[in-house]
Amino acid sequence: MRDRIAFIDLTRQQERIRNRLDAAIACVLDHGQYIMGPEVAALERSLADFCGARHVIACANGTDALLLALIAKDLRAGDAVIVPSFTFCATAEPVSLLGGVPIFADVLADTFNLDPESLKAAVLTARRLGLRLRGAISVDLFGQPCDYDAIEAIVRENSMWLICDAAQAFGATYRRRKIGTIGNITTTSFFPAKPLGCYGDGGAVFTDEDETAGIIRSLRVHGQGKDKYDNVRVGINGRLDTIQAAVLLEKLAIFADEIEARNRVAARYDEFLPANLKRPVVVDDTISVWAQYTVQTRFRDDCLIHLRKQGVPAAVYYPQPLHRQPAFRDCPIAGGQLPTSERLAADVLSLPMHPYLAEDDQHLIAAAMTAFSAAPCLP
Ligand SMILES: Cc1ncc(COP(=O)(O)O)c(C=O)c1O
Repeated sequence: MRDRIAFIDLTRQQERIRNRLDAAIACVLDHGQYIMGPEVAALERSLADFCGARHVIACANGTDALLLALIAKDLRAGDAVIVPSFTFCATAEPVSLLGGVPIFADVLADTFNLDPESLKAAVLTARRLGLRLRGAISVDLFGQPCDYDAIEAIVRENSMWLICDAAQAFGATYRRRKIGTIGNITTTSFFPAKPLGCYGDGGAVFTDEDETAGIIRSLRVHGQGKDKYDNVRVGINGRLDTIQAAVLLEKLAIFADEIEARNRVAARYDEFLPANLKRPVVVDDTISVWAQYTVQTRFRDDCLIHLRKQGVPAAVYYPQPLHRQPAFRDCPIAGGQLPTSERLAADVLSLPMHPYLAEDDQHLIAAAMTAFSAAPCLP
């Protein structure tokens, strides 16, 4: 079988739109505006149309998107920001880079997303430590929006801002609200393996706040004022390349169709996988973009070895929660412990997931998982 099963297959998508990609890239080569060319503004308009956000600012990557959002919210040294521990390091990194204090909160075992009760505990932790609590960053992990009704209520009660790190979830919908329109600011990544990815690094910031959008546009180009030689604030070089914008415009044209395909793939996994395997749970009335399809097993490391022997690529996101990483070891923890993040780091396993995954291959993957679950050494 099975070396042919790709964990994430970008070649099938490229074959589908290769002519259009070639033409779009050739167009940039012809007009020569490699930095902030017309495709960048066109992409920002198309992303805004796609999700309904009032302002979209394209930028260099998803980490810069978070950095721009935090600078725009005037995060100062010593300010506290609540962040889930079970996520990629880039969620917390910009908080620390700016001298802020990430307070790590736990996640829910079934959805992998920020646990509202742990968010409340993190607020109390900030108060107990006498920190100036400014906001929270929620993460729509593996493509699924968080439980925003609960999270927004806590954020409002505590006069905090909310930044949604949707690096993995652009295109998803929470109770008829598209990702990009929730929280004060949403950020995303166009890293190639993301549901909407370019052919290099890329990212974007979404907000309905006019003033915040203006500040982020300025920050993206060295804090520029009326032009780039008028520097009204300290910013960064955080622009998206024109060629990446051109690629993204072509990929966005087929994105809705790919989101449907991803959901068909996820539904087939739900059907084919062994009954005793813990599957990801999607919040009611919510559409995930399935950046990952992640299951849980107490015998994760053995299962990984077994799958690899069977030619099934699988991956672990994430083997360490952030509060256990040396870089964040000294940061406060909500309520003193984060048991779900720790358990998930030991148990999670992501299976191949992309819009072009064939039903036959999913049968093979499910059969490999079934053989593992039925092995006599397991309870
Ligand atoms: C949850 C999360 N936040 C932020 C990022 C950072 O995005 P980028 O790699 O584009 O900087 C990623 C990328 O993997 C991510 O998964």
